[in-house]
Amino acid sequence: IQTDIPAVKDTLPFQVGAAISRAQTLGGHEELLTRHFDSVTPGNALKWDATEPREGEFTFADGDYLVDYAAAHGLRFRGHTLAWHSQTPDWVFKDGDRPLTATPADKALLLKRLENHIRAVMGRYKGRIQTWDVVNEVVDENQPDDMRRSPWFQVTGYDFIRTAFRVAREADPAAKLVLNDYNTELPRKRQAVFNLVKKLRAEGVPIDAVGHQLHVNIEQPAAAEIEKTIELFAGLGVDQQVTELDVSVYTDFVSTYTTVPPEVLALQGYRYKEIFDVFRRQAARLSSVTLWGLADDGTWLSTFPITRLNAPLPFDDELQAKPAYWGIVDPAQLP
Ligand code: G3I
Repeated sequence: IQTDIPAVKDTLPFQVGAAISRAQTLGGHEELLTRHFDSVTPGNALKWDATEPREGEFTFADGDYLVDYAAAHGLRFRGHTLAWHSQTPDWVFKDGDRPLTATPADKALLLKRLENHIRAVMGRYKGRIQTWDVVNEVVDENQPDDMRRSPWFQVTGYDFIRTAFRVAREADPAAKLVLNDYNTELPRKRQAVFNLVKKLRAEGVPIDAVGHQLHVNIEQPAAAEIEKTIELFAGLGVDQQVTELDVSVYTDFVSTYTTVPPEVLALQGYRYKEIFDVFRRQAARLSSVTLWGLADDGTWLSTFPITRLNAPLPFDDELQAKPAYWGIVDPAQLP
């Protein structure tokens, strides 16, 4: 890796992190990670399907490895995630073969499973994980009440969110508790997430921070909308974090590149600059910014929602700095 360029973390007034798997703690990826970043989020290792594949059977090998690794290298740790509709085993929402429904008995069973899961996972890492994405992606602004029709919501209504935060606070009182969602830079989603957080905090639900995922693309004029979002949530007095930033080089689901053209990478560099200009201006309201990956060779966007070459991160497949890196660190160097 390049050792003659500034460390990203030295150029920013907030913590900067990256989503990782075990593979990113080795070789050149490890060098990039420890040189440029203050914190890590496990991309998959602490999700429910990874930590409790069968009821009451916990598997912490990857989680333990990553938490130990982070501690040994002075990296802060964001836990991700405790209650989500995706990457959650089927058993969670079933009683034997029967799907749980909104009866009081089923609701009590599901909330008990949630409580047990959170106590086990957060309890194992108590004091070692500074921030947790407690609930993930619960808002759907296309529903009349703005709530996603997940099994969580269909069986428990809002109570899974209330239970998750209450139990999380008890399981590790020092951890910062986050409600995390995507598309919060878009006007309707922004407002829907705002309304939910306002309502729950007014009830006393211990939500410390809102997580803005920020999976954006090069064409979308995201920066101005991101700033409106940060300003709106500042009015609630909650901390805010950017939790999953990346900038896709596509604006639709049909384009493909075999190599990404230099002018596209340059445009992406300017997008990163605009977005980090906002983050620097809003630094008092943001405690951390996390990228959803380290380098383009490991991005989720090259396999999901379709398989095609993408390049959404500041370092390329060879772990070299891209214009996106310079957009963050020193825009005067942009092409
Ligand atoms: O673990 C299996 C492996 O055994 C198998 O060989 C391989 C072949 O497909 O699949 C592996 O599982 C994949 C897993 O990532 C680990 O690589 C899953 O198929 C794949 O679906 C999963 O994708 C993850 C995705 O969440 C699923 O929802 C991405 O890595 C992860 O980056 C992504 O992260 C989410 C955040 O948690 C929430 N916000 C959106 C973000 C991007 O989708």
